[in-house]
Amino acid sequence: MSTPSTHVEVLLVLALLSCSPGIVWSNTLCQQTNDEVRPHSVSITEFGAVGDGVTLNTKAFQNAIFYLNSFADKGGAKLFVPAGRWLTGSFDLISHLTLWLDKDAVILGSTNPEDWPVVDPLPSYGRGRELPGRRHKSLVYGRNLTDVIITGNNGTIDGQGSIWWSMFRNKTLDYTRPHLIELMNSTGVLISNLTLLNSPFWTVHPVYCSHVTVQKVAIFAPLDSPNTDGIDPDSSDNVCIEDCYISTGDDLIAIKSGWDEYGIAYGRPCTNIVIHRLVGKTQTSAGIAIGSEMSGGVSEVHVEDVQFYDSNTAIRIKTSPGRGGYVRNIYVSNVTLINVDIAIRFTGLYGEHPNDAYDPNALPVIEKITIKDVVGENIKTAGLIEGIEGDNFVNVCLSNIVLNVSSNYPWNCSYVKGYSDLVLPEACEPLKERIFPEHCSDCYYMSNQIQSSKGQNRGAWFMSW
Ligand SMILES: *[C@@H]1O[C@H](CO)[C@@H](O)[C@H](O)[C@H]1NC(C)=O
Ligand SMILES: *[C@@H]1O[C@H](CO)[C@@H](O)[C@H](O)[C@H]1NC(C)=O
Ligand SMILES: *[C@@H]1O[C@H](CO)[C@@H](O)[C@H](O)[C@H]1NC(C)=O
Ligand SMILES: *[C@@H]1O[C@H](CO)[C@@H](O)[C@H](O)[C@H]1NC(C)=O
Ligand SMILES: *[C@@H]1O[C@H](CO)[C@@H](O)[C@H](O)[C@H]1NC(C)=O
Ligand SMILES: *[C@@H]1O[C@H](CO)[C@@H](O)[C@H](O)[C@H]1NC(C)=O
Ligand SMILES: *[C@@H]1O[C@H](CO)[C@@H](O)[C@H](O)[C@H]1NC(C)=O
Ligand SMILES: *[C@@H]1O[C@H](CO)[C@@H](O)[C@H](O)[C@H]1NC(C)=O
Repeated sequence: MSTPSTHVEVLLVLALLSCSPGIVWSNTLCQQTNDEVRPHSVSITEFGAVGDGVTLNTKAFQNAIFYLNSFADKGGAKLFVPAGRWLTGSFDLISHLTLWLDKDAVILGSTNPEDWPVVDPLPSYGRGRELPGRRHKSLVYGRNLTDVIITGNNGTIDGQGSIWWSMFRNKTLDYTRPHLIELMNSTGVLISNLTLLNSPFWTVHPVYCSHVTVQKVAIFAPLDSPNTDGIDPDSSDNVCIEDCYISTGDDLIAIKSGWDEYGIAYGRPCTNIVIHRLVGKTQTSAGIAIGSEMSGGVSEVHVEDVQFYDSNTAIRIKTSPGRGGYVRNIYVSNVTLINVDIAIRFTGLYGEHPNDAYDPNALPVIEKITIKDVVGENIKTAGLIEGIEGDNFVNVCLSNIVLNVSSNYPWNCSYVKGYSDLVLPEACEPLKERIFPEHCSDCYYMSNQIQSSKGQNRGAWFMSW
């Protein structure tokens, strides 16, 4: 009975067992959500707001929040937004505030760009992302805050972005388009139980933040709307995204950390990012993307239990010479794909630079990327994995990936090195080496030793919050 092939299979099973990651550490990071009761509450109507979809309520939001500031040191306060259509320009949140949207409450972004003031570019980008210079401020904005909650009974924030998409398409934008929600340099942020629609640009953008949870949020924008990313954690740490549905015109989640020389100089990484139970579709872009702006580094990203359908790409890493930085210790597991063109895509020559002053010798380090337990139906290409000549992407580990692929050339790999086990169709040559026990430490999160030390760290992050 002992044929050579069964020997191979026994070895394989042993290899997998000894690298088994076991329990998942992601759960406690997401348990920080406190739907605490604020001792004070006012309704936006007490500040003269009119929910007719026509009256501009910017002043009412600003006045209400100014008033609630006096409760910041008394446990904070809640701004209640009842059912109605509340048109407004940009407004600023404060610390210890809950913005609470009732069922059938809709905050509508003004369609006059002048109601979205212009603010400085982010230091880690050096300029607006799409145009040099400054950028429009997000509809809901917060800076230097602690303990901010945006939630409710499934109310809606609708950016009415189509005017911005037209200005982008007909090249009449004055400055970079605004996000729907941006929190900058803030800690203790919860965004939950909401529907977010039609952002002019990226939908939720936490930048230089710590301890951010986005939970039970549905995000929609037309599938052809330009750059309407869903959630973009940027130079932020301890971010949990769970139980979300996202369908937009760009990446559903894009993990970033600054752009070329500006991102390198600012040097703030994006780390400890947990994403689970995400479902969504994007016809142009990826379900989970890292980059292309990753110059401050991206590490410790755990993605689990995600499903993408009718989409262009599922898992993507985008970078370029000039970016510098790193992407390392990335773990993606339990991915279900239906009708997806490319399951896994790494792009080493993405391009797009803030200006000509970038350093072409600033090469990104891409290493320790584990992707496992993926099933896919109606996939065109399994992997299009392009590293950078002279700067191989290394320790890419693929395990238990079974894809129904239509292309006769399912994997196309260059400048990459790594391992694979139980991958169908069989992985490309540079990733063909099996994950034997001695490779476990090369493969992020596939050794018990790594896993238990992570478990301890996780406890520490939770305690410090
Ligand atoms: C969000 O909705 C869920 C039910 O879907 C509920 O259990 C939870 O308490 C809500 N969170 C807040 C902050 O209202
Ligand atoms: C971030 O916020 C803290 C506390 O509000 C402040 O001390 C710090 O200067 C801020 N940094 C930036 C870059 O805004
Ligand atoms: C945030 O902190 C920075 C740095 O201390 C300061 O320059 C900026 O004015 C603050 N912004 C707000 C809105 O508090
Ligand atoms: C929230 O509202 C959206 C539409 O605005 C709807 O599709 C979704 O089912 C609602 N979710 C819940 C939990 O009520
Ligand atoms: C561009 O689009 C904006 C928004 O729809 C519109 O107001 C403007 O007239 C358009 N400009 C041109 C030159 O087509
Ligand atoms: C994989 O994820 C799906 C949701 O996408 C979930 O229903 C299933 O239980 C997960 N499988 C495992 C083994 O955790
Ligand atoms: C892929 O799907 C097609 C259509 O459903 C089916 O005929 C084929 O057997 C599947 N191939 C594999 C390898 O599962
Ligand atoms: C593989 O990808 C390269 C680009 O990286 C492309 O030029 C080449 O045509 C692809 N090969 C096949 C067979 O698809």
